[in-house]
Amino acid sequence: MVTVEGAIENGECVNAPAQILKDTHASPAERLWALAAEDMAAVDALILDRMQSPVGLIPNLAQHLVGAGGKRLRPLLTVATSLMCGYQGDAHHKLAAAVEFIHSATLLHDDVVDESELRRGKKPANLIWGNSASILVGDFLFARAFNLMVETGSMEALGILSNASSVIAEGEVQQLAALRDVKMDETAYMQVISAKTAALFAAATEVSPVIANRPAAERSALRDYGLKLGLAFQLVDDALDYGGFESALGKSVGDDFREGKMTLPVIRAVEAADEKDAAFWHRVIVEREQTEVDFETAISLLRKTGALDSTMDLARQYAREAREALSVFDASPWRETLEDLADYVVERIN
Ligand code: IPE
Ligand code: IPE
Ligand code: MG
Ligand code: MG
Ligand code: MG
Repeated sequence: MVTVEGAIENGECVNAPAQILKDTHASPAERLWALAAEDMAAVDALILDRMQSPVGLIPNLAQHLVGAGGKRLRPLLTVATSLMCGYQGDAHHKLAAAVEFIHSATLLHDDVVDESELRRGKKPANLIWGNSASILVGDFLFARAFNLMVETGSMEALGILSNASSVIAEGEVQQLAALRDVKMDETAYMQVISAKTAALFAAATEVSPVIANRPAAERSALRDYGLKLGLAFQLVDDALDYGGFESALGKSVGDDFREGKMTLPVIRAVEAADEKDAAFWHRVIVEREQTEVDFETAISLLRKTGALDSTMDLARQYAREAREALSVFDASPWRETLEDLADYVVERIN
């Protein structure tokens, strides 16, 4: 098997910051970033360039979010999978920037909808400039994503990402409609997270074999990888909303509870609840009557019923499936690091 270390010794990956690749403690995301360093720098430059506008509020607000960083996981996936597919050209930069713009637009809208108080370690844009400005600049970034996609000239890539965009919105609306519905089941939950989160991961990886003209089997494998990775990612996000630390996450915990959102940890805890616990869930979710101590009580019920553990187990299962989806590709540092990224997404703390 070709390892990252082996590839460095063979003189491949000459552009990769070798110190990160040699550092055995570096996370798969850091290693992937190091492997794709030049391309990711080009994507970042494109992102900065395309969020400019003569309307000053747009770059100011966008810079607040984009400048705060974020993991850039989705554009990294587009770049890494394109390079794994042997793509040569610059469409992958445009598509990666478009993917991050779509993600950024959904974050701007999401913080309005979720009334969050922290995003990427900072005050969300809507708490500084107001909800209207956040929604409108979100729309601008979304539209810029479409400009970038059109520039690639790939109708297929445009089709994949525009479809993902409407599916994300459907997922958010389905979730909104199910708010405070304590009877929401696992099937409906999986539909919501497939749509609102996994669809963009799947599109981010599926466009790569398309622009690289790879066979259908690789396209379906990469779509499957992104989808499973995205499902694992959102399952972990939903567990972290009860078990994570704001300082590491850079975003508020407890948002889902406060909103009365039925995520998998709560669905499973409700299923396992006795009469007294069922009354608790009814009060805090359906009636939305919450006191100071209720969030702590909810966390202890999620722990007691094993709901957090079983949510993480399901995330691990999807991560395994994501890993397996890459088996159609020849061994390479890309494949190896993308496989490891699946496990990292589950173990992450931010
Ligand atoms: C947050 O995504 C939105 C979810 C789908 C949970 P990320 O955790 O990737 O956000 P950033 O880009 O790193 O801030
Ligand atoms: C985000 O879900 C999904 C999006 C499409 C933005 P969340 O609402 O759980 O994301 P965070 O936790 O605020 O990042
Ligand atoms: Mg949300
Ligand atoms: Mg949110
Ligand atoms: Mg969340």
